[in-house]
Amino acid sequence: MEIVILPDSAEVGRVAASVIADVVARKPDGVLGLATGSSPLAIYEELARRADAGELDFSRMRGFALDEYVGLDYSHPESYHAVIDRTVTKPLGMNPELVSVPDGLADDIPAACAAYEAAIDAAGGIDVQILGIGANGHIGFNEPTSSLASRTRIKTLTPKTREDNARFFDSPDAVPTHCVTQGLGTILRAHRLVLVAQGERKAEAVAAAVEGPVSASCPASVLQLHEHATVVLDEGAASRLRNADYYRYTWANKPEWQRY
Ligand code: F6R
Repeated sequence: MEIVILPDSAEVGRVAASVIADVVARKPDGVLGLATGSSPLAIYEELARRADAGELDFSRMRGFALDEYVGLDYSHPESYHAVIDRTVTKPLGMNPELVSVPDGLADDIPAACAAYEAAIDAAGGIDVQILGIGANGHIGFNEPTSSLASRTRIKTLTPKTREDNARFFDSPDAVPTHCVTQGLGTILRAHRLVLVAQGERKAEAVAAAVEGPVSASCPASVLQLHEHATVVLDEGAASRLRNADYYRYTWANKPEWQRY
């Protein structure tokens, strides 16, 4: 894994955006894996800035979101359909017809999950998957004990995740109890992974993911099995890493052409 430690969230966004921009420039009809939540917002803001400046063109890029709540109407501003539209599709100038979000309202959710996997495969797989990390180590909504080989499916959210996401809803009880999420096996099939984390609240999960054993107890530790995963952190999120100095040294001495 490539671990990059930066002074603040804006820098995290800038460096992670450069990884994405490199893919878009090389493959303008490529496929992005999209995360929601607070962590990737700085990436999307930086990518939108570059798109506005005419440096990047997202109009032919495909997008697949990681997850969606079950039973939350897509007109709800916190449904991931709405969040992806508001924070990614519109600001980046993507074609809405090329952006997919798992179907949390399907009558037959297992069939919708299988169709989602098939659509990713038909698009040629995900070129670069953006990831955040939950304070409990989840990626997507793959909560602890998720199978490391799992595919898109329905999951029960942990009380911790519902509590963490209550800030987006009127009350903690309004947070849905279930979600549809790409699996850890789905995420591992992406050609490249970029995980971003900011703040001390994530430090323990980041340390477990990066320096702990590969374990379903910390789903993000599955990144250790991927051949091209980059973890971009601010100082707070990196504060529990034992080998932080080595990661800083490695990044500082990496030639620019090897960085993205
Ligand atoms: C959202 C997702 C989640 C979040 C994680 C961190 O699509 O996949 O894994 O990335 O819950 O959320 P924030 O960034 O809001 O702290």
